[in-house]
Amino acid sequence: MYYPEELVEEIRLKNDIVDVISGYVKLQKKGSSYFGLCPFHNEKSPSFSVSRQKQMYYCFGCGAGGNVFTFLMEYENYSFAEAVKVLADRAGVELPEGDYSKEAKERADLKMTLLEINKLAAKYFYAQLKSEHGKAAYTYLKNRELSDETITGFGLGYSNKYSNDLYRYLKAKGYKDDILVKAGLITIDEKHGAYDKFWNRVMFPIMDANNRVIGFGGRVMGDGKPKYLNSPETPVFDKSRNLYGLHRARRSRKPYFLICEGYMDVIALHQAGFTNAVASLGTALTSGHASLIKRYVDEVYLTYDSDDAGTRAALRAVPILKEAGITARVIRMDPYKDPDEFIKNLGAEAFAERIGKARNGFMFGLEMLERDYDLSTPEGKTAFLREAAKRLSEFEDEIERSNYIEAVAKAYRVDKDELRKLVVKTAIQKGLAKPAGRPITTVQKEKTKEDGHLKSQRILLTWMIEDAYIFGQIQKIIDVNDFTEPLYRTVAELLYGQYEKDALNPAQILNHFTDEEEHRRVAELFHTKIKELSTAKEQEKALNETVLRVKKHSIDEQTRNLDPADIAGLQKLMADRRALQNPDKLHISIN
Ligand code: CTP
Ligand code: MN
Repeated sequence: MYYPEELVEEIRLKNDIVDVISGYVKLQKKGSSYFGLCPFHNEKSPSFSVSRQKQMYYCFGCGAGGNVFTFLMEYENYSFAEAVKVLADRAGVELPEGDYSKEAKERADLKMTLLEINKLAAKYFYAQLKSEHGKAAYTYLKNRELSDETITGFGLGYSNKYSNDLYRYLKAKGYKDDILVKAGLITIDEKHGAYDKFWNRVMFPIMDANNRVIGFGGRVMGDGKPKYLNSPETPVFDKSRNLYGLHRARRSRKPYFLICEGYMDVIALHQAGFTNAVASLGTALTSGHASLIKRYVDEVYLTYDSDDAGTRAALRAVPILKEAGITARVIRMDPYKDPDEFIKNLGAEAFAERIGKARNGFMFGLEMLERDYDLSTPEGKTAFLREAAKRLSEFEDEIERSNYIEAVAKAYRVDKDELRKLVVKTAIQKGLAKPAGRPITTVQKEKTKEDGHLKSQRILLTWMIEDAYIFGQIQKIIDVNDFTEPLYRTVAELLYGQYEKDALNPAQILNHFTDEEEHRRVAELFHTKIKELSTAKEQEKALNETVLRVKKHSIDEQTRNLDPADIAGLQKLMADRRALQNPDKLHISIN
């Protein structure tokens, strides 16, 4: 941790979570919590809750959650140290410039300065486009059928013909050469001195999910090369973790994204009303993109160019998306090159029809495979089906595999049982098949059982933080070590410490973690609902069952891990187990 714990806690206390989040999300009071539409995923009815009492937020839809620091980390992409710094400023708390924080502070300052420079540059390019110098660029965009509203909405601009006017402009604002180079906008060499990277191009500012300009793309207004020039990677611009158009698409409230290849495709789609379009900007789709997408939607439609390169890119993207838990469909743009040209020629309605006719990613892959075989001959068809069976054998989920076998059998008019046999045979040849499939189900069963135990532990922790009286009773039965999951145990240890001091404060516990993923998991811990139970009696029963379940699981685990030579340990475990037989002594009452 960069800052002293007490200081971090002071900053947290001075920034009420409801006030801070209200600046970003419209919240409405419902019972003891505030609710709004989750800013981290698309939804139509509010499942994002903020509790003033807990000083935490949690989305029952996507599982995003944490304290006020987490919120800024997730929403603004800040590191923990950056979030602390921003909230300290907000509350007027002074941060020490100690050795530890120096490096972190410098990094945060650098990022902020780069974002500032980018914003200034974007404004400058926009002003150029609207000025006399920018006439040709403006005409170019108009010829590409962009409305003024679209041009302004995407902040398009123009970098004019002088080789260093942006440089001079930014220098006049007080920025030094080295930082301008770091921003990727200026190149300096010994012979020519400093000059602008972008020169006589139409400019596309690239925004991150939170509307901050992180880089630029610039297009020549003719056939010059390269067609597009892009900002290099900088501390604020990571191409594999950003998507062009995401800042708008995330607010489109549609359950899927359209993913295309280029700047102009995204813009044309948005203008035609498809406000959920994003682009991976010439680079191949990465798992970084996929996990970014997964924050907002579970489904995407790939609308890549209809040439070979676009087809190959779509085929490569499907498994990457699947790996992240995203279903992919493929939309064909033929006879046109890309969505921009398609819409220009056939209009939005025709595009919507194509969305309706989108191919499932796997079936699309088979269609492309067809090209390599002559399906009109028996040999050709057999060879094709062999390859298809090989791909089918790769589905790990049996139900999914079975569904696809049926779909393929239907599409290629073969008997589905025959195809199934072929798939099994292929799997065995590849050494993939597990004998009779049994071990798979056992593994799955064990996994769900384990999930169940973890959930019980979460339920207890949620209950404990909500009611100190219940905490008092539970801690007599359940000790810290009964939380078998390491993260839960750490949290329990901190909570038990707070309880001892009569100062339960779950939101503070989050200060001990600096990683977003950990914040998310800890927030989940404190928001685990058991099925809504109406009567107090039912609740009490459920609570008691949960306590017993957690205790029993813990004893089982300890028994499993016990050193056979540890006699004392064994005796203790036996005593614990016996105690479980006497539930009256263990009874917890909820009021
Ligand atoms: N691209 C790039 N550098 C290039 C060419 C392409 O970065 N030299 C990226 C751009 O993000 C571009 C995308 O790849 O938007 C797709 O390229 P392409 O299909 O060639 O361009 P279009 O988007 O169709 O551009 P336009 O319609 O303006 O010709
Ligand atoms: Mn194009």
